Amino acid sequence: MPNTQFTRAIFPGTFDPITNGHLDLIERGARIFDELIVSVLRNPDKNPLFTLKERIEMLREATAEHENVKVDAFDGLLVDFARECGAAAILRGIRAISDYEYELQMALMNRRLAPEVETVFMMPAGRYTFVSSRLLKEVYLLGGKIDDLVPAVVLDRLRAKVAVP
Ligand code: PNS
Repeated sequence: MPNTQFTRAIFPGTFDPITNGHLDLIERGARIFDELIVSVLRNPDKNPLFTLKERIEMLREATAEHENVKVDAFDGLLVDFARECGAAAILRGIRAISDYEYELQMALMNRRLAPEVETVFMMPAGRYTFVSSRLLKEVYLLGGKIDDLVPAVVLDRLRAKVAVP
């Protein structure tokens, strides 16, 4: 029997800023879920380079062509936000074994808090397995080239925010 149920998932993160690795996962998620809500943590503790508003604007622009992708902000517990949205799943990316331990801990804690919300792991394309927002900012700020690793809007915003040698 065909599954006619509408399935919504959330893709949470700090997105400071969105990378092509994130975008790759968003595209994969948008293909298997009916709706994907990219959920940006306010996260003042992490002292982000970009404000919440800037992170959301970049995400909206980078995902504009995907009609079933929405962007929203959250604070507090992720599972509370998932429930508020009516999401059946939390999508997370795993790039390498090193991601696995932290992701497993989070997934199992989230399951304990909200057993009805399933965590789904996906792998980005191999060419993005080394890409992280933290590393890209570091490379950019030290004058390295990151053009093919972030959406154009991110490069424009980085250039506007920080001039590098
Ligand atoms: O992009 P990140 O920084 O790896 O994303 C981490 C995120 C936002 C998924 C995680 O920090 C989170 O879910 N924070 C919300 C608070 C929460 O629910 N904490 C308990 C997680 S088990």
